[in-house]
Amino acid sequence: MNYTYLDSLATYGVGGAHPGGLQLTEQLLAREKMNRKTAILDVGCGTGQTSAYIFKQYKCNVTALDNNKVMIDKAKQRFRSSHLPINVVEGRTENLPFRNETFDIILSESVTAFTNIPVSLSEYKRVLKPNGVLLAIEMTAEPLPFTKKEKQFICDFYGVSQILTEKDWRNYFRKSGFRHVTVEKHMHHSVPQDVMYANDFMLSNQIQEEHYEILEQHQQIVSKYKDKLYFRVFRCTG
Ligand SMILES: C[S@@+](CC[C@H](N)C(=O)[O-])C[C@H]1O[C@@H](n2cnc3c(N)ncnc32)[C@H](O)[C@@H]1O
Repeated sequence: MNYTYLDSLATYGVGGAHPGGLQLTEQLLAREKMNRKTAILDVGCGTGQTSAYIFKQYKCNVTALDNNKVMIDKAKQRFRSSHLPINVVEGRTENLPFRNETFDIILSESVTAFTNIPVSLSEYKRVLKPNGVLLAIEMTAEPLPFTKKEKQFICDFYGVSQILTEKDWRNYFRKSGFRHVTVEKHMHHSVPQDVMYANDFMLSNQIQEEHYEILEQHQQIVSKYKDKLYFRVFRCTG
């Protein structure tokens, strides 16, 4: 395989490439205190679907960050064409180019699992205001055991070093200084929207066949491991 799962998402320009899609994002944000002064960082923004929604809905101060040039270009294109004044930054979650205590909310929608998790989390903590909120939608392994081979296959496919359980995530959040963590459990197969059901694509000019195969394989993994691979929404403060 020459390309990664993330390359394929970027090439297809999949908007809402997280479990639950924009529908879940809307629900999560509706529970937060949002006003025009709210400063929100969409880490791993992809093509910017969520950031665009946030600005249109709340008219607040939105920053969209990603480390993938293709994603960043597509996000910029989206914001430009809709005249949305969103600050777009090419950067890594492990080294956020922002001052301490800049944001009220950080949104990580299927992003942090792909990064160096403890480093990213301590960066989130650093750039969040003291009363800030981290909302993270992340893949989790269930207590139902994966065989060593299954685990390796999934890690290799997604390019992640591990698949964390809810408990592992909680430990990481706590170690990064988030004292209060609430969790919602979701099952992949119970949500209507995932990559293959997305309806927002910003296609690159050239799309190699392999990208389609990779996205199809993702869907097969989600359905094959539906009893072992769920996702959680973590709300972290403090
Ligand atoms: C599964 S996609 C989700 C994109 C977007 N949040 C969404 O829901 O549509 C993961 C995104 O995280 C970005 N990403 C992965 N590792 C990153 C890192 N270390 N720093 C910044 N962005 C990263 C990828 O480029 C990709 O856009």
